[in-house]
Parts: sequence; C-alpha cells; structure tokens
Amino acid sequence: MSDALNYLLKARPEALGHYFAFLKDAGKHLDPKTKNLISVITKVHAQTDRGLRQYLRRALREGCTPVEVLDALLMAFPALGLAKIIWAVDIILDMKIPEFQPAALTSPGQWHDVMASTDVKDGDVTRTECEGRGLFAYRDKKTFQVYDSRCPHQSTNIPELALKGSTLTCPKHHWVFDVKSGDCIKKGNSPLKRIESKVVKGRLLAFW
Ligand code: FES
Repeated sequence: MSDALNYLLKARPEALGHYFAFLKDAGKHLDPKTKNLISVITKVHAQTDRGLRQYLRRALREGCTPVEVLDALLMAFPALGLAKIIWAVDIILDMKIPEFQPAALTSPGQWHDVMASTDVKDGDVTRTECEGRGLFAYRDKKTFQVYDSRCPHQSTNIPELALKGSTLTCPKHHWVFDVKSGDCIKKGNSPLKRIESKVVKGRLLAFW
C-alpha cells in the first residue's frame, strides 16, 4: 500500500475502512487469479509504477503465469491503449523476471544442470548461478531444496553475503527467510520461490 493510503487509513479510518471493505467485497465471487489479473490491469490503467510492481509480484506469487498477465494486458487494449501497455511492459522488463524472457515464455521448461550434488555440503546452504539465474541450494542428507535467489517482496537478487547459516536476510527491506523450509520468518509474509530439483548421476538439476 502507498504511504499516502497508509496515512489516510490512520487519519480517517472510518472513511477508508469503508473503501477497503468495498474493494474486498467487490471481488468476492471471483477466483484469486482473476482478481489478481484485474488488479494488475487497474494499476496499468492508473499508471502507478509502484502499484503495478506490487500487484504483478502478488499475481505471480498466487499462481498467474506470465502469459496470462500478457494476455490480460492485451485483452484490455480497448481500455488501456497501446501507450499504457508499452509503459507496463517497460516496467515488467525492468523487473527482470526470468519467466517473462521470450525464451521462457515459449518453452515448456526444462531441467538445468546446476552443480555436482557433493558441492552442497550436508546441512549447508550454497549460493550459485545457473544460466543467469541466482539460486540457493540447501541439503539435508540426500534431500535438496533449491530456491530462486530473488526476494519474493520486490525481486531483489539476494547475495551470498546475506546468508548466515541457514538464515537469509534480504538486504533491501530485511525480510528474513529460513532456507531449510523457504519460509519467511521475520518482517514479510511470502516464502522464497522453491524450484523443482532432483539429483541424477551425482548432478543437482533444477527445472524452470
Ligand atoms: S526486496 Fe524487500 S525485503 Fe527483499
């Protein structure tokens, strides 16, 4: 939420409370994906940079795919017009979300060779790069968990320095994650993005 809305909520809770209740009630018969896509479109229509980034992240977190977001933008063409769609796509590209890259949009996904499984010590977390994507890998004996290194809050690419044991603290707004589970354990409310993985012939593979 913007600082201005936060301020108004505190200054005039009785008035703003009705507004938020209205927004909540207005979408109660829609499935979450549809609600998220409509929210993204409203941010594009109003051209609020911060709002678009926030609602796009939420939409992706809650199950919308990049092609669905693009379809929603294109379907809203009669209302948005080309200039606003281009404005939105510029912001999406600036967010550097790998799933929006053209190759990722057209490919059904594939397994990527990340590293030798023995390079992740038992009980340890290792930060690595694989084909331009930052990853954190955690190993518990024969079980591996692989996470996207981008923060679920605002996509900050979290560096290795942010790791203390199995606790990861995003340098931007200090959300804290437990890499063993991926859960956000302080400040925030969304887990790290888990990436499907497996070990084949001693190599750790990840799917995206
Ligand atoms: S980008 Fe805000 S906590 Fe990571």
